[in-house]
Amino acid sequence: MNKLKISKNTLLVGSGKGGVGKSTVAVNLAVALGRLGLNVGLLDADVYGPSIPIMMGLRQLSPRLHPQEDGRELIVPFSKFGIKVMSIGFFIEEARSVVWRGPMLHATLSKMITEVYWGDLDVMIIDLPPGTGDIPISLSQILHVDGALVVCTPQEVAMLDAIKAINAFHQLEIPLVGVIENMAGFTVPGTQDTYHIFGRGKAQELANRFETELLGSVPLIPAIRRGGDEGYPAAYHQADDNVGVYFRDLATSVQQKSFSITKKT
Ligand SMILES: Nc1ncnc2c1ncn2[C@@H]1O[C@H](COP(=O)(O)OP(=O)(O)OP(=O)(O)O)[C@@H](O)[C@H]1O
Ligand SMILES: [Mg+2]
Repeated sequence: MNKLKISKNTLLVGSGKGGVGKSTVAVNLAVALGRLGLNVGLLDADVYGPSIPIMMGLRQLSPRLHPQEDGRELIVPFSKFGIKVMSIGFFIEEARSVVWRGPMLHATLSKMITEVYWGDLDVMIIDLPPGTGDIPISLSQILHVDGALVVCTPQEVAMLDAIKAINAFHQLEIPLVGVIENMAGFTVPGTQDTYHIFGRGKAQELANRFETELLGSVPLIPAIRRGGDEGYPAAYHQADDNVGVYFRDLATSVQQKSFSITKKT
C-alpha cells in the first residue's frame, strides 16, 4: 500500500499511560520546533478526547474549506503560534462522546490527513490517545511515520505502560526516537526546594532499557498547566524565560536526534 508522506519528518507522541502529559508535550514541542524556524504541523489524533483545540486556544472553532482546481475541497488547518493545527475536536461538540467503530475511525483519521491542506512541512507532530489501541495502527497504515517519542513521568506505573507502548510501536515498525520525561520534580518558586511528587528516575531507566536517549525532562510547573487550560502554550508565551527553555532544549534535541533517523523501508 502507498503510504502518504505528509512531512519531511512525522513523529508520534505516545505514552501508554493516560494523563502523563502527551498533549502538553506535543503542543509545546510543536510550538518550540516552530520557533526554531521549522514548518510544523500538529495533528490531534486523540479522537476519544481531543485536547489540542483547548491547549492551542482554538476552542469551538471550525476550519474553513478551500476549493481546489479539480473541484475537491480541502480543509484549511488553523495557523496559530507559528504552526498548523488540525484536530477531530474541530468537528465534534466539546461535550459529545463519539463511539467509534473501527472503519469509521480509520476513515476519519485518513480524512484529517489526506484532505487537509498542510503545505510543505518539515515536521508533523501527532498527539496520540493513551493506550496501545487502533489509532497508531491506522496511522501507520495511512502515513509514512518516521518515529515515536514516548512521554513518561518519573514513576514506575508510567514506565510499565510506556514499555507496552514502545513494544506496540516496535510491532508496527515505528522506530523509537527517544523518551521525554514529564512532571519531573516541582521546585517551590523562589526557593531551591524540589519535591519529586511522581518519584524519580524511571524515564531515564526506560531510555536505558531501550538503549535510547532521554531527549528532555520537563518539571511540574503550574504555568505549563495554566498555559494548557487557557490556550496559551508556555513554549510560546514564556518562550524566553525559565519555563520555555525546557521546551526549547527539548525541540533542539528532537530536531538533532529524529532528523537523522530515516526509516528503513
Ligand atoms: N509539566 C507539567 N507541569 C504542570 N502541569 C502539567 C505538565 N504536563 C502536563 N500537565 C497537566 O497535566 C494534565 C494532563 O496533561 P495532558 O492532558 O497533556 O496529558 P495526556 O497524557 O495528553 O492525557 P490523556 O492521556 O488524557 O490524553 C493537564 O492538566 C496538563 O495541563
Ligand atoms: Mg492527551
